Amino acid sequence: MENKLIVGNIKTNMKFGEIPNYLNWFKNIKSKNVVICPSYIYIPYFLNYKFNVGSQNVCINDDGGYTGEISAEQLASIGVKYVIIGHSERRLFLKETDIDINKKIKSSINAGLKVILCIGENLEQFNLLKKDIILKRQIKDDLANIKDLSNVIIAYEPVWAIGTNKMPDKKEIEKTVLYIKQLVIEMFNQKIKVMYGGSINENNISYLKDIEVLDGFLIGSASIDPTKFIKIIDKVINI
Ligand code: PGA
Repeated sequence: MENKLIVGNIKTNMKFGEIPNYLNWFKNIKSKNVVICPSYIYIPYFLNYKFNVGSQNVCINDDGGYTGEISAEQLASIGVKYVIIGHSERRLFLKETDIDINKKIKSSINAGLKVILCIGENLEQFNLLKKDIILKRQIKDDLANIKDLSNVIIAYEPVWAIGTNKMPDKKEIEKTVLYIKQLVIEMFNQKIKVMYGGSINENNISYLKDIEVLDGFLIGSASIDPTKFIKIIDKVINI
C-alpha cells in the first residue's frame, strides 16, 4: 500500500493568495509518493516542500524558439520530478494528438522526468463497447518507439468518470488495469505501473485503495480542497 502513488492535479485552479494556506496543509507530508501538480506559475512555491512536484503539461519540443511553452529540461532543471501527459482535457480542448503526446513523452524521458500518461475511453466509446480498442490504440501510438518504459506510469482515466461522480466498479477497474498491464507486456515486452483516475474522493478512496493491481491514484477536484486531499493521502499512506 505504501508504494501507491497519489497524484493531485490542481488543473487551472487557485489564485496566488490561496497558495500559502493550501501548502500549509502539506508541510508534514514527507512521502515522495505524494505528487502535487499545480499550474506552472506556482511550481516554485510547491518545490519548497518534501512531497514531489509534477507539471500538468510540457512542450512538445526540447528547448528553443517555442514562445509561451515550457520544456521538459526546464522543468527538470527546477526540480520537477513528474509530468502529466495526454490528459483527456488536453486531448479534447487543446486538440492534442497521439503524435504530440508521443513527442512529449520522449522529450520528458530524455530530460529525466517521470511521465504519467493518461489514457481512457469517452462515454460514447464506452457505450459502444470500444473501450479495449481505444486503450490499445492509445497505448500503441503514445508509446511508439520508446525503448525504456521504466519512467512511464499509465493513468487509466475513463473520460466519463472525470468530474462526474461516476466511476467503474471495483471489478471493472481491476479488469481494465490488468488488461493494460498485459497489453504493455505483449506490445513492448515490459512491465508498467497503472493508476486510476476519475471522481476519486475522500470516501471512495477507502474502497479503491484495496484494489491490489492498482499502483496509484490521480485526483482532480478533490485535490483542490486541501482537507479532502489530506484525507485521501492519509487513507492510502497513513501519514
Ligand atoms: P476528477 O479529475 O478527480 O475531478 O474526476 C480527475 C482528473 O481529471 O485527472
